[in-house]
Amino acid sequence: MSLDSEPRASASVLIASHWLAEPLCMCYFPFVNSMKKIAVIAGDGIGKEVIPQAVKVIEATKAPVELTYLDWGADRYLRDGTTVPKDGFEMLARDFDAIFVGAFGDPRVPSNIHAKEILLGMRFKMDLYANVRPVRLLDASLCPLKGMEPKDIDFVVIRENTEGPYVDRGSVTNEGTDDEVAIQEDVNTYKGVRRIIRYAFEYCAHNKKADDTRRSRVLMSDKSNAMTYAGGLWQRVFKEVSAEYPQIKSEHMYVDALCAQMVRDPRQLDVIVTNNIFGDIITDLAAGLQGGLGMAASGNIHPGKTSMFEPVHGSAPAIAEKNIANPMGAILTAAMMLRHLGLTRQARWIEDGVLEAVRQKKTTQDIGGNLGTSEVVLWSTKSKFIAYVGDPDFHDGAIRKISRNSDELVVEVEGSTGTRFAVRFVGVESVISYNPEEMGLEALVEMETVAPSRRFVFVNWLEPEDQGGDAKLQIIARDFSVEKLMADG
Ligand code: NAD
Ligand code: IPM
Ligand code: MN
Repeated sequence: MSLDSEPRASASVLIASHWLAEPLCMCYFPFVNSMKKIAVIAGDGIGKEVIPQAVKVIEATKAPVELTYLDWGADRYLRDGTTVPKDGFEMLARDFDAIFVGAFGDPRVPSNIHAKEILLGMRFKMDLYANVRPVRLLDASLCPLKGMEPKDIDFVVIRENTEGPYVDRGSVTNEGTDDEVAIQEDVNTYKGVRRIIRYAFEYCAHNKKADDTRRSRVLMSDKSNAMTYAGGLWQRVFKEVSAEYPQIKSEHMYVDALCAQMVRDPRQLDVIVTNNIFGDIITDLAAGLQGGLGMAASGNIHPGKTSMFEPVHGSAPAIAEKNIANPMGAILTAAMMLRHLGLTRQARWIEDGVLEAVRQKKTTQDIGGNLGTSEVVLWSTKSKFIAYVGDPDFHDGAIRKISRNSDELVVEVEGSTGTRFAVRFVGVESVISYNPEEMGLEALVEMETVAPSRRFVFVNWLEPEDQGGDAKLQIIARDFSVEKLMADG
């Protein structure tokens, strides 16, 4: 099963700069054969604001993607009665590598029929059985709990996405009388339960936390003390599947107790697997731990099939068209989608940009800043990068030499076909190396602050895991230039 674990690239270098996005980079921009095709459906309400902003960020990464916009949503439905055009799901599965979605829900469509047909339609008809909802605290200031640091909250909810009460099966008898009975069926199949629990264990085995430590436990949450038929199946299958993964600790909590645990002490949580309805509810609660619904990302995944990515939040009609919606959930969702498509460096670039914006409070009001939706994005795309500097075949490159004199820092880079160039940074404000010993960069970490205005340049150096994993260098400088560029033969 191929999950969202990060593929390791061989030695490679990413130098990102806004400045480099101009003509020069045309020579070095990677013309990758495999353009990833993405369908973009902004939908309703704040979906129409946050998705275009997240698209700007995707475009700023120069990721090799081709975006196609689809107008599915309330406006279209009210205009011509269409929720999903004929063969819409077949078209998505056939013509696209991924789908990037905003939200559906509009007060003008009280039945919510379009949301049901489009959103739940994609999940069910495209069989996107795993709803992956990471819960990661980016900065202590975002958490309503006392004393929580980013290392304390880094878990993921794997929500079953094709069964449960969401199949919307049931009946109403004696409607409108005192004897009315409404039955909503909760469907749980052996195959459905087994594949989502397996997905959770596979996710645990193949994905690390943000601090690079391994994931090690899977917690299944249900309500088997009251709902015994479904609970019995979940309990039995969980035991069965967990036996296949002896290296992973398996745990169980009733969903009510899990809610209490989440807001009292979420530090022990790692991978949570649960059914459709509980997964829906606990991920809004978990979003609260990250700074609110505006921060939460998700992917609706079927390994090997066209998958769909959407922020956890809805269309939030009350705050729509005011330029105040937080775009970070959508932006982090874009990163999740790019990583799923194998565009790992672009995904990291986005995540690092969000982190930097959050730390500097260059955010919307809901998480403590004073910027509008579009200003947040402008800040994060302008204050840094972006271009790949490597060779035209995009075989990446390696940092060959780093030297420093007064406030200058020169990074020499060599592409795999021998292209060499040097990037000269002036007014270096800070250098962060995540792996200083390996890179011999200790001295650089102490670089002084010299510039009030900043440009952000990101150099990323990936190595195979057996050679020590990632080394990463992040430089914030007033300006930089490419000193020499020598194409090889
Ligand atoms: P909601 O997520 O839209 O909003 C809940 C609360 O969070 C509101 O106070 C809202 O202002 C706030 N909020 C949400 N996203 C935010 C953001 N990005 N920035 C700042 N604040 C944000 O949920 P709701 O109010 O229950 O539902 C509104 C509509 O959205 C309904 O029609 C619902 O069915 C639909 N909905 C759709 C999806 C989806 O398409 N994936 C998800 C949830 C809800
Ligand atoms: C979500 C939403 C949807 C759900 C609604 C809009 C049907 O709340 O994606 O979390 O319940 O799954
Ligand atoms: Mn929800």
